[in-house]
Amino acid sequence: MTLEDPRAPRTALITGGTSGMGLETARTLLRNGTKVAITGRDPDRLSAAVDRLGGGDRLIAFAGDAADLGSLDAMIHEVAESFGELDLLFANAGVAAFAPASDVAEAEFDRVVGINLKGVYFTIQKALPLLVDGSAIVVNASWTAHRGMAGGSLYAATKAAVQSLARTLAAELAPRRIRVNSVSPGYITTPMFYDNVADDAHEVIRAAIPAARFGTAEDVARAVAFLGSDAASYVNGQDLVIDGGLVGVAGGARV
Ligand SMILES: NC(=O)c1ccc[n+]([C@@H]2O[C@H](COP(=O)([O-])OP(=O)(O)OC[C@H]3O[C@@H](n4cnc5c(N)ncnc54)[C@H](OP(=O)(O)O)[C@@H]3O)[C@@H](O)[C@H]2O)c1
Repeated sequence: MTLEDPRAPRTALITGGTSGMGLETARTLLRNGTKVAITGRDPDRLSAAVDRLGGGDRLIAFAGDAADLGSLDAMIHEVAESFGELDLLFANAGVAAFAPASDVAEAEFDRVVGINLKGVYFTIQKALPLLVDGSAIVVNASWTAHRGMAGGSLYAATKAAVQSLARTLAAELAPRRIRVNSVSPGYITTPMFYDNVADDAHEVIRAAIPAARFGTAEDVARAVAFLGSDAASYVNGQDLVIDGGLVGVAGGARV
């Protein structure tokens, strides 16, 4: 049985595709018939992801750092050699960093901005020659760009920046009919979530989510696959919040 979706992109590049939302988006796109390239810094995690995805000759993987421009050049060169062109870029690679603003050192500021903003910015810039007219870019932002959260000053600022970047590029790339949208996931149960959210905070957080559950990487992967497909051909410059209602809904409140 073939599950190929005729509206799916033919080729896609996913940065940070070795775990969490990037990995699940790769799985979803492969199921839809897309040829997928994934990246990540850790070669062992990269080869484990290739094994887990089992994408055969439709899956390629490159070790590289999204914050390093030389590494991005090498990645784009490899994608060009393998795919020739791109229909979808998912600029997903990012790191979490939570601390009071008073404690954030300059080196930490530069590290997080380097991956979450500079990395996304130059990933898109370097991919532009490969992206065909009518293709799509999806940027991974965050619910924290929509709602203040103590300890999130640095992380949320980078996510607000890339959400803004997506909107601006939607205008700039309109002559090429390249659609640029962002997703803003809520609390999604990836390794990043478990590394940053203490076990004893789970119940309090869950209680603030109208859906009464955390999100899954699959919840986000489905949305990215939609935004990257022709099914979303009239969706441009938007931010899709995927958070079970955390940002937009007053859970439990009644007048
Ligand atoms: N989980 C959440 O609740 C949540 C909520 C909102 C937004 N987000 C955002 O969603 C995106 C994906 O996060 P996730 O939760 O799926 O996290 P994850 O499971 O930790 O995956 C992050 C991926 O990014 C890669 N990565 C990190 N830094 C990189 C770099 N400099 N260059 C290349 N690859 C890099 C990681 O691989 P290596 O470490 O091997 O490089 C990994 O493949 C991030 O941008 C994150 O900020 C997450």
